[in-house]
Amino acid sequence: MNQSSPDHLKRAAAAAAMTFVRPGMKLGLGTGSTAAHFVDLLGAAGHDAPCVPTSEATRVQAARFGLKLATLDDCPNLDLTVDGADEFDDALRLIKGGGGALLREKIVAAASERMIVIADAGKRVKTLGAFPLPVEIDRFGARATRLHVEAAARELGLQGEITPREKVGAPFITDGGHLILDCAFGAIPEPEALASRLNAIPGVVEHGLFIGLATTILCAGENGVDVLGKAA
Ligand code: 5RP
Repeated sequence: MNQSSPDHLKRAAAAAAMTFVRPGMKLGLGTGSTAAHFVDLLGAAGHDAPCVPTSEATRVQAARFGLKLATLDDCPNLDLTVDGADEFDDALRLIKGGGGALLREKIVAAASERMIVIADAGKRVKTLGAFPLPVEIDRFGARATRLHVEAAARELGLQGEITPREKVGAPFITDGGHLILDCAFGAIPEPEALASRLNAIPGVVEHGLFIGLATTILCAGENGVDVLGKAA
């Protein structure tokens, strides 16, 4: 998670997202410090329609705020998901997964009519890749999968350190029981090509490139919140 972004901007983006929420909307709840502001505001507003959390952490927070929790099996079609991002560009392409929830985040976003991303302006980039790309892999054959990820990147002219994510000296394990490789490729000029190469590697469960999922980005800066994409 990006702790360096000013908290008041995260709050401003989350507050802007609240203006898109209507009574009865079935919602996907994102993960991370920005999404946590949205969950907080949603709870305070007393939203009483089903909400599907994208992580155990968000599930715990939403329950604490009295939101009505559901699973995607209960509600396979959601009206709106609101989530944060680690990076985004003007084509509404994202890097996500800094908090390790990318798999559920992508499943929930794909089940939603609309995905609104809330972020501060520091996360807006010309070219994705300054933030290391999280790639979630199965524990079985992790070393072999990593070699395939390296080879796929190399073929696209991408280099850079690939680091298995750790948490207090042990491998970081996702909610789904998988590992994460943080891939510091630097600029990714062709995110679509990289996404399809990664999708083709058997041990890759999911990757943090979110392409064609976000419909709106609410980008909070010191002078207000910019709306990228669909405005209403
Ligand atoms: C979690 C995510 C988060 O949305 C992303 O890491 C942004 O987090 P934050 O709002 O704390 O900066 O993708 O997997």
